Amino acid sequence: MPLRAAEIKSTSHIGQQVSIRGWVHRLRKQKENSFILVRDDRGGVIQCVLPTEKAATLTIESSVEITGVVSQDSRAPEGGFEIKGTDLRIFNAAGTDYPIGEYQSDELLLDKRHLALRTRKMIAIAKIRASVLDYSRKWFVDNGWLEVTPPTIVKGAVEGGSTLFKLKYFDEEAYLSQSAQLYLEAMIFSLGPVWSLTPSFRAEKSRTVRHLAEFTHLEAEAPWVTLDDILNVQEKLVSYVIENTVKARAEELAYLKRDVSDLRKIEPPFDRIPYEKAIELLRSRGFTVTEEDGSRHDISIGDDLSTDSERELTKDAEKPVFVVGYPIAIKPFYVKEDPERRGFGLAADMLAPRGFGEITSGGMREDDIGSITERIKREGLNPDAYDWYLDLRKYGSVPHGGFGLGIERLIRWITNAEDIKDTVLFPRTMSRVTP
Ligand code: 4AD
Ligand code: MG
Repeated sequence: MPLRAAEIKSTSHIGQQVSIRGWVHRLRKQKENSFILVRDDRGGVIQCVLPTEKAATLTIESSVEITGVVSQDSRAPEGGFEIKGTDLRIFNAAGTDYPIGEYQSDELLLDKRHLALRTRKMIAIAKIRASVLDYSRKWFVDNGWLEVTPPTIVKGAVEGGSTLFKLKYFDEEAYLSQSAQLYLEAMIFSLGPVWSLTPSFRAEKSRTVRHLAEFTHLEAEAPWVTLDDILNVQEKLVSYVIENTVKARAEELAYLKRDVSDLRKIEPPFDRIPYEKAIELLRSRGFTVTEEDGSRHDISIGDDLSTDSERELTKDAEKPVFVVGYPIAIKPFYVKEDPERRGFGLAADMLAPRGFGEITSGGMREDDIGSITERIKREGLNPDAYDWYLDLRKYGSVPHGGFGLGIERLIRWITNAEDIKDTVLFPRTMSRVTP
C-alpha cells in the first residue's frame, strides 16, 4: 500500500520499506544520484533519491510510484526525511515542455491554471478555501439554519440591470443569477431561517482586485428578525469561520507567509458606524467623489463609498466594521426604508479591515407590496418579472431580512491575497473564461 508523504514523515518508518505515489515536483539529476521531490495527491512532498541510471528518463510532473527505504537526513528538504529509492514505476512520462517552472508571470500562471493548481501556493489556497466553506456550513447547521438550493437561471435582476449576464433560454430570455436572495425570501415562509451557497454571476465591466464575474455567494435569510439580529449573525459567523480556519490551516497559512496575529483578534462585536458618521469622517479628511461626467465634489450624504473610502474607514480598525443605514437611492429596490429616517435604508455592509473592503451586504427587506412595487418601477425594472416575488408581500408578509457574503472576498482577506483571482481555482473575469 503506497503511503502519503505526511504519513511517512509523521510515523517512524525509518529503516522500513515504503512506497509513495505522486508526481515529480522537482528534479535534480547528478552523476550518481537523482534527487526527486515527489508530491502526493494531498499536496505533501518528500525527497526520494534514486540512482541516476534508473531515473534517467524522468521529467517534471511525470506520475510515478517510488519504493525504497526511509531514512532521516537533516539535509533533506521538507522535514529531514527521504526515501532511498530502489524501484521506480512510471505511470505517465510527462512531456519535457512542462510550462510552469520556478518563476512565471502571473498571466502565464492564469493561462495555465489547470497546471498551476499543482503549485504549492494553489494547493494551500484550495485547502484554506475548503475550510472556509466547511466552517461556514457548520456554523449554519449548528445554529439551526436550513440549507436550501435556489435556482441560478432566473428571470429577474436583483442587483441592478447593468451587471446581468443574459442567456438564451429556449425561446425566451433569462439571466444568470446575481443573488439567491429573492428565492431565499420565498423559502422563509415555510422553512424559517434558510441559507444557501451558490455561484452568483456579475458582468462586472471593470477590472479590479475585488471583482469576479462568477463568485461563490453565501446567503442567508430569516423571518421576524431585526437589523441588529442580522448583524449579530454575520459577526458570529465570520468570527467562527476565521477562528477555525486559522486553527485548521495553520500550516497552509504559514506556507503563504500569512502572519495571522490580526485574525486571532477577530471576535464579536464588530463596530457599527452610521452611514452619516462615515460620510462626515471622510469629508473631514478631504474625500471627494468624481461623477461620471468628470466633475468632482466633496463626499456628502447620498454618495456611495468607494474602495478608497472603505480603506480609510477601516484603516485603524482591528476588526471588520459595519457601515449602517445607507441611502435607499444607492441600494437595490428591496432594501427596507427606515421608518424613522426617511430616505435611508435598514441596510448595512461589513467592511474588512486594512482595505480589504466590503465582504457582506445585508439588511431588512421591504415587506409592503405598494412600496416595493414602486421601488421596482423606480429602478427601471419590469414588475411582471417580479410577479411571484410580489406574491410574498401579498400572502402573509412578515418583517424579514438577511445578507450575502462573498466567499472569495473573505478568503482574500484571510490569505492576504493581492488579487481575488488568487482565491478561486478557475477565475472568471471580463477578460478570462478559460481554462
Ligand atoms: O453586495 P451584494 O451585491 O449584495 C447582494 O447580492 C444581496 N442580494 C445579498 C443578500 O442580501 N442576500 O453582494 C453580496 C456580497 C458582497 O458583499 C461581496 O462580498 C460579494 O457578494 N460580491 C462579489 N464578490 C466577488 N466578485 C463580485 N463581482 C462580487 N459582487 C458581490
Ligand atoms: Mg454590496
